[in-house]
Amino acid sequence: MGYRVAVVGATGNVGREMLNILAERQFPTDEIVALASRKSLGTEVSFGDTTLKTKDLDTFDFSGWDIALFAIGSDATKIYAPRAAKAGCVVIDNSSLYRYDPAVPLIVPEVNADAIEGYSRKNIIANPNCSTAQMVVALKPLHDRARIKRVVVSTYQSVSGAGKDGMDELWDQTKGMYVPGQEKEPSKFTKQIAFNVIPHIDTFLEDGSTKEEWKMVAETKKIIDTSILVTATCVRVPVFVGHSEAINIEFEDFLDEDEARDILREAPGVMVVDKREDGGYITPVECVGDFATFISRIRQDSTIDNGLNLWCVSDNLRKGAALNAVQIAEVLGQRCLKKG
Ligand SMILES: NC(=O)c1ccc[n+]([C@@H]2O[C@H](COP(=O)([O-])OP(=O)(O)OC[C@H]3O[C@@H](n4cnc5c(N)ncnc54)[C@H](OP(=O)(O)O)[C@@H]3O)[C@@H](O)[C@H]2O)c1
Repeated sequence: MGYRVAVVGATGNVGREMLNILAERQFPTDEIVALASRKSLGTEVSFGDTTLKTKDLDTFDFSGWDIALFAIGSDATKIYAPRAAKAGCVVIDNSSLYRYDPAVPLIVPEVNADAIEGYSRKNIIANPNCSTAQMVVALKPLHDRARIKRVVVSTYQSVSGAGKDGMDELWDQTKGMYVPGQEKEPSKFTKQIAFNVIPHIDTFLEDGSTKEEWKMVAETKKIIDTSILVTATCVRVPVFVGHSEAINIEFEDFLDEDEARDILREAPGVMVVDKREDGGYITPVECVGDFATFISRIRQDSTIDNGLNLWCVSDNLRKGAALNAVQIAEVLGQRCLKKG
């Protein structure tokens, strides 16, 4: 016996990937429905070897549906997620709306699967920001061994993190550099993204940081340990899919780079590719379509007592969103919504 599953935002980057991953991982479904806005009514989306016709979220009745995987923006989520949850359907949400709500668990299954039990307070489970998800998968096993005091992270985030409009803008702007008359001014991003990098994602906060940077701080604390200090600089780069991060970690206890490499090799969801030679590391184009978070360039930071540096790359549409959401659904099914 399987579940009745709704994919909300099925025409978007994350929604399409959720359908792919549900099919790839053979998530037990009795019935699946693809939902999006009214303008997408009838749009065909793939689910394994079959095609689904998208239905209108606004008129959809969630009664009798078990799980809804949401990948629409926060504004629309605010309207539709409570509606689904109230109808008895468990919402797994990719937006930032519920991530910091103490009554909603924020889950990365490799890190804090046990916290899922708290879902029943609101019938909602939150998925973290894409940059946080891949980072905490790498940090948790190291924290368990040597206690992390402080993390300094710089991100190199692909345009797909800004949705399908972000991908279109990079494509059109790149073409416009070569085809006279097809120049494309920035609209989704604040400056030219083609052949450029932009040190600004989401809105500015009073202290000069951005909301994206604040999310990495707040979410790491909620998922792993409130005592961990994080300082982040989030940067958009002209890569279609795959987020990269340069992470510097300061520990309470000494952790040798070889031991760290061994710990990460054994860690769930992690793949270590770390050869100190030309090409002996992973770049974003190589992680696309993969489930793993890749770790390379593991090395001691000799400028502090207990420091390590590493390079972390993952498919932001997968571990950063769709895969993590499906993994949450799997844990939910195994622990809380048993069937058959
Ligand atoms: N991309 C990432 O790496 C990533 C990572 C983590 C979290 N997220 C979050 O996931 C969510 C979706 O991101 P995305 O990258 O997939 O965006 P996207 O490619 O722009 O897709 C947005 C989806 O939401 C639907 N939608 C928007 N407003 C709607 C409304 N009022 N009613 C019904 N459907 C509506 C769209 O349907 P139509 O096509 O009909 O407009 C589309 O299916 C966002 O909250 C984002 O912050 C994204």
